Amino acid sequence: MIGFMGSGKSSCGRELANRSGLFLIDTDAEIVRHAGMSVSDIFATRGEEAFRQLETETLQELLKRNEDMIVSVGGGTPLREENRKLLKQMGKVFYLKASPENVYERVKENTARPLLQGPDPMGRIRQLMKDREEIYPLAADHIIETDGLSVDEVCDQIEKLFWIG
Ligand code: S3P
Repeated sequence: MIGFMGSGKSSCGRELANRSGLFLIDTDAEIVRHAGMSVSDIFATRGEEAFRQLETETLQELLKRNEDMIVSVGGGTPLREENRKLLKQMGKVFYLKASPENVYERVKENTARPLLQGPDPMGRIRQLMKDREEIYPLAADHIIETDGLSVDEVCDQIEKLFWIG
């Protein structure tokens, strides 16, 4: 699953893992585990580019594992062309698309996202979404508009689309 921060990738990942019994991998969590520090600390001490490199390496590792699993990636992962290629090789890619308002509601209390810690998080969400809106579909097999849908309803759609094609 790909999509902007706060688009519901982690919640849907957990629900899909429950339903299917498959393993869930959250690439942010993998990076944090390997690096031994939080995403914010990686951004602060090594910079965003180093984090992006860790995202690429994590996808490469997952691809090598060649196992059935559900993978939820960070909101910026599809920005690198190399990552989009890796994602395609890994399997079916679902883009969870949410409005800036819904994203804001989900992320406003959370301080773990370094890109949204400035004085105007809503403005930042709108700007980043605009910058990325043409990129996400390049990486996706299916786009799911999540506004107004529950986690269960999003997962129903993913399951249906997964089996259709
Ligand atoms: C980022 C999204 C975050 C995390 C990092 C950068 C982004 O993941 O990888 O803070 O560039 O959109 P989530 O989408 O899981 O919040």
